[in-house]
Amino acid sequence: MAEKVLIIGSLGQVGRELFESLCGDYGVENVIASDVKESADIKGRYEQLDVLDKDRLYSLIKKEGVTQVYNLAALLSATAEKNPAFGWKLTIDGQFNVLELAKEGHIKKIFWPSSIAVFGPTTPKQQTPQKTVIEPNTVYGIGKLAGEMWNQYYHEKFNVDVRGVRYPGLIGWKSLPGGGTTDYAVDIFYSALRGESFDCFLSHDTSLPMMHMEDAIRATREIMEAPAENIKLRTCYNISAMNFNPQQLAKEIKNHIPNFEITYHPDYRQEIASTWPASINDTEARVHWGWKEKYDMPGLVRNMIKNLKDKV
Ligand code: SER
Repeated sequence: MAEKVLIIGSLGQVGRELFESLCGDYGVENVIASDVKESADIKGRYEQLDVLDKDRLYSLIKKEGVTQVYNLAALLSATAEKNPAFGWKLTIDGQFNVLELAKEGHIKKIFWPSSIAVFGPTTPKQQTPQKTVIEPNTVYGIGKLAGEMWNQYYHEKFNVDVRGVRYPGLIGWKSLPGGGTTDYAVDIFYSALRGESFDCFLSHDTSLPMMHMEDAIRATREIMEAPAENIKLRTCYNISAMNFNPQQLAKEIKNHIPNFEITYHPDYRQEIASTWPASINDTEARVHWGWKEKYDMPGLVRNMIKNLKDKV
């Protein structure tokens, strides 16, 4: 049977790029972008959909014969702190709707994104393993951890084929993040290329795991295409590519744009970042389904500057 793909939350940072990638392989007619907005500037099929509306989700899946769902609907870490009840509801009730439809046999495969935010202040900070102390203290992290456990539950009890990764901070030139703690690492390129200085909301030495969006999309596609028996973890996999702090990123940007200046005024997002790992151990993803990154930090900076130069 031909695959028919539905992306929920397609207008976010990951959704936009994932849509392009999936259209490239499955054909524009077989990939449906959806989001809560009424209309969208998307080259392809778009449906307005609120993931919390299970009836509408069901009728869309039924009508279109959807086989795979990528459920990307969420409030990122900084936004969720400002609206805990809705952040939790969107993450958990939304995924529940998708899991239930899979349990009832309406969908074959689900992708669900988790995050380094599942880790918390008591987690070992360096080379954070897949399985370790996990006590998140942010709304976003609590939701993602609970979602991971529900995914595992639906897999074990009802054989639902649900797969996911814990994304680090994602940096790409095609789409913008919104409301995350790692957003600075995208915004900084726009300031640098405009010839402006950048005021960073994290301290100079806050090291976080990061990844080029191209690698993140490839990880997403690869875990979904891997044989089911290779996916031995039905929570979500650690995946890692690079780690840096704002000072190190600024220094690398300066190698390309020597006049670039950065200042630091940590705000409430510093508190979130301080609870997250500085680096990630992703052995399981590498061994189970062959994950490997392409971009390191200098490669990412070169690529971002090259592609954003004309755009900015
Ligand atoms: N990039 C996300 C955030 O900062 C982390 O997954 O919220």
